[in-house]
Amino acid sequence: MAEPVAFVTGWPIAHSRSPSIHRHWLETYGLKGRYERVPVEPDAFESFIQTLGANGYCGGNVTLPHKETAYREVAELTPEAERIGAVNTVWLEQGKLFGTNTDAYGFLANLDDRLPGWDKGEIREKGALVVGAGGAARAIVYGLQSRGFSSIRIANRTVERAAVLADHFGEPCCAVPLEALGDDDYGAGLVVNTSSVGMKGDRLSLDLHRFAESTIVTDIVYTPLETPLLADAAARGLRTVDGLGMLLHQAVPGFELWFSKRPRVSQALRALILDELEEAR
Ligand code: ATR
Repeated sequence: MAEPVAFVTGWPIAHSRSPSIHRHWLETYGLKGRYERVPVEPDAFESFIQTLGANGYCGGNVTLPHKETAYREVAELTPEAERIGAVNTVWLEQGKLFGTNTDAYGFLANLDDRLPGWDKGEIREKGALVVGAGGAARAIVYGLQSRGFSSIRIANRTVERAAVLADHFGEPCCAVPLEALGDDDYGAGLVVNTSSVGMKGDRLSLDLHRFAESTIVTDIVYTPLETPLLADAAARGLRTVDGLGMLLHQAVPGFELWFSKRPRVSQALRALILDELEEAR
């Protein structure tokens, strides 16, 4: 049988770390298979995704700007992809194209790994404050809802976008304006930044002193690894989790689907990707 070949496609795709992650696992486990980086322009994406099998692929990762098109093009969606409204992982099963979204899994698995029990008791009861209302926020709100958080407050600069998300996911979500957070928002047990703020050294307008000491703060931005939000939260004595683990963990289900081996997110993998990110800066 031919060796399995998977891909990551986007436009542009040069910056993607996915090839390094999957090639590291192929090598670590001594598996036959390849993982290729394939730039595909938006106009060519439909044809690319509909001819995967004929072109020798068993599946792959889909990133910006193709995640919503992939959602529309696959024959079968998993419940999480259906709910999140975007597909980042596809695979062929007996000629049929399946699509899922592994971002919520990656987000949850990273926290499970770094702070076991993070979603139990007090934190879940106090609820979450999710900053941002873009594609990443959709996956994270889905994930938090699946873990039974008592409230999920979505704070966004453009509050209308947060309202669309809160409406889509329903209970226990609500929308709040980022610039006017109140006592309820500062009562959250978990704070998640899903916005792009922090990538350029910029800061969110959050008063970290208003959160209780037990609060967990996490960021999905991983360049820089320690964002101003995480640095401020650590200085305030709060527990922090960086965003690199989400990138690594979201790759696990895809690798298992294409190469039939559940890989582990190890310290060696983390160090490898950190080195690459450092070199690219
Ligand atoms: P993604 O799909 O990666 O989540 P996106 O859809 O571009 O990306 O969303 C980016 C998020 O960062 C949005 O919530 C955006 O807020 P708006 O909806 O108001 O645009 C948020 N964001 C970007 N720059 C920001 C800034 N300077 N201050 C506050 N929020 C910002």
